Amino acid sequence: PLHRPLYGRHVLVTAGPTHEPIDPVRYIANRSSGKQGFAIAEAAAVAGARVTLVAGPVHLPTPPGVDRIDVETAREMEEAVNQTLPVDVAVMVAAVADWHVTRQAGQKIKKEGGGIAPLELAENPDILAGLGASVQKPRLLIGFAAETHDVVHYAQGKRQRKGADWIIANDVSGDVMGGNHNTVHVVTADGVEDWERMDKERVATRLVERISNALSH
Ligand code: C5P
Repeated sequence: PLHRPLYGRHVLVTAGPTHEPIDPVRYIANRSSGKQGFAIAEAAAVAGARVTLVAGPVHLPTPPGVDRIDVETAREMEEAVNQTLPVDVAVMVAAVADWHVTRQAGQKIKKEGGGIAPLELAENPDILAGLGASVQKPRLLIGFAAETHDVVHYAQGKRQRKGADWIIANDVSGDVMGGNHNTVHVVTADGVEDWERMDKERVATRLVERISNALSH
């Protein structure tokens, strides 16, 4: 138990972006490398958890001992998450696109044919908020919030609105996107912890330690 503190726990991690098709060759997406989410999945597996990683389109190898489900769109991600329940812990790191295109073109839209008509968008499901309101809400529900300003303030609002236990607020005003380092603030019901800038693997192992401690109390 000392070395595998999450043994016997099932941890769900979402990671990467989602792609929302416009036509067969174009899509709408958020910027996300998937690195932080994959690092958390790996750290949870090292800590002994059974880990299900629901991954959007990214070019990253599957961490050892992790069950991976690849998805493309937010709606596919929601379905994969729901199929994975119940879990003890969910860490929602994916940068889910907020909207999808309601009428996806079956063929490539041609510039010469007059170009693109205004796209009609519809809101995607909020997967984190869905879990927060679910009867199958995990014992520990953790969201991420990428912000460029007023990082902690927005994260506190998000924690309440989405029914999450913790929000890991990350300041993406610098070189975080696609980079190897992260500066995060852990927002819980008890307050805010400011973590120093560190690499994404270290953020992952510290977060998994924090999760193990919370579950053992
Ligand atoms: O509202 P915002 O997108 O900033 O919230 C970020 C958090 O919510 C992340 O944990 C993200 O994975 C989750 N989220 C989600 N489904 C969405 C949008 C965000 O699970 N449609």
